[in-house]
Amino acid sequence: MRAPATDLPIVLQDVSYRVRDTAILDRISLSFVPGAPTVLIGPNGGGKTTLMRIAMGLVEPTGGQVSFGGRTGVPPTRRAIVLQRPVMLRRSVSGNLNYALAGAGVARADRAARAADLLGTVGLSGLEERAARRLSGGEQQRLALARALARDPQVLFLDEPTASLDPASTKAVEDVISGIAARGIKVVMSTHDLGEARRLAGEIVLIHRGRVLESGPAGEFFAGPRTQEARRFIGGELLV
Ligand SMILES: Nc1ncnc2c1ncn2[C@@H]1O[C@H](COP(=O)(O)OP(=O)(O)OP(=O)(O)O)[C@@H](O)[C@H]1O
Ligand SMILES: [Mg+2]
Repeated sequence: MRAPATDLPIVLQDVSYRVRDTAILDRISLSFVPGAPTVLIGPNGGGKTTLMRIAMGLVEPTGGQVSFGGRTGVPPTRRAIVLQRPVMLRRSVSGNLNYALAGAGVARADRAARAADLLGTVGLSGLEERAARRLSGGEQQRLALARALARDPQVLFLDEPTASLDPASTKAVEDVISGIAARGIKVVMSTHDLGEARRLAGEIVLIHRGRVLESGPAGEFFAGPRTQEARRFIGGELLV
C-alpha cells in the first residue's frame, strides 16, 4: 500500500509577493517541518499574514514556488487556517461546529461525537447551546480552533491567536495550542507577544519588511540572536 500523502514539509523557495511596484514579500526561502510550532514574529506590516496565506495555499505568490510534501498545487484539504478575527456564524456553538464538520465531510451520524470531542479539546464543553457571537473573545478564538480542527488538519496556521486577549484567556488559548502541537499537528502561527513566542515556539522566524531577518530554533534565537535587528527586537526596541 502506498503511504498516505503528506503536506509536510511545506517549502517556500524564493517566494515573492508583489502588488504593483511594492514587494510585500521579497524572495523568501523557508521550510515548515514537523515538530514544535513555528512562530512568525516581527513588526506590523512585515508580511506575516501574507506569508501564512501563501503557505496555506490561499494566495499564489507572484514569484517563486511553494511545495507541500514535495508536490505543488496541492489543495488545502490537510491544512487549516484561523484568521485574525474569526467570524462566527449567527448560530450556537454546536451550530458553528456542526457546520464545520459538515464542510469537512464528516458523516451526519458521526458529528455529535466529533463535536463533543472537539469541544473537550478546546475546553468549551457545556457551552454547546450558547450563541457563538456572545462568547468572550478568548472563547470565540477557542471555538475557531475547534472549527479548524474539524478538518483534521496536518498543518494549522494561526494568525495572532491571542491578540487582544487578557492573560487568563491567552493562557487558555496557548494551552489548547500546546495540546494541538503535542498531538503531532504542525502549528505555524504569528504573534506580537514575545513571551508567547518563547513559550510556544520550536522555531522562530523574524520577518521585517517582507524579508526573513533571522530564522532557526527558538532556544538559539532567544539565547543568541545573530543579527543586530533581532537583538534589538528581543530587547524591546522598535524596528522601523
Ligand atoms: N493585496 C494587497 N494589496 C496591497 N497591499 C497589501 C496586500 N496584502 C498585504 N498588503 C500590504 O503588505 C504589507 C504586509 O502585510 P501583512 O498583513 O502580511 O503584514 P503582517 O506582518 O501580518 O502585519 P501585522 O503584524 O500588522 O498583522 C502591509 O503593508 C499590507 O498593507
Ligand atoms: Mg498580520
